[in-house]
Amino acid sequence: MEKLVRVCHVEELEHDKPRCYRVENMDIFIVRHWANIYALENRCGHAGAPLHRGEYTDGLIVCALHGAAYRVESGEVEWEAILPPPMSEYSKSENPRIRLFGELLEATETLPIKSFPVTVQDDVVYITLPY
Ligand code: FES
Repeated sequence: MEKLVRVCHVEELEHDKPRCYRVENMDIFIVRHWANIYALENRCGHAGAPLHRGEYTDGLIVCALHGAAYRVESGEVEWEAILPPPMSEYSKSENPRIRLFGELLEATETLPIKSFPVTVQDDVVYITLPY
C-alpha cells in the first residue's frame, strides 16, 4: 500500500535550493531542478547529518559533514564520505577515547538514501510514501 502526502506548494521551492519539510514524522529533503522536483529522506547515509544543509549542484547533494555525495533522483551514493585530517588520524591516537572514535568513524559505511516519487497536482507537491 502507498499513500500520497502533501509536502508544500511549488512556489515555495527556489530553483536549486534544497529545503527540508517535516512530513509524517520524517524529515524530507526537497529540491527543484528546472521542471523536476526530487525528494529524499533528509538524513545522510553516512552519519545522519541533515542533507539540505549540504551543497547542491547539478543533481548531486554533497553532505556538509564529511562530504558524501548522493544522486537526488535515486538516493544512490556518488562518492563516499571523506575523513580529512585530523579525523583521518584519530584511529592512531594514543588517547583510547579518540582512537575508538576514529575507529568508529572509519568503520561507518556510506549507505544509499531512500528516495520518494514526487507528484505535482495544481501546483502542490506530494510524495508517495509506503503505508
Ligand atoms: S554525515 Fe554525511 S558524510 Fe558523514
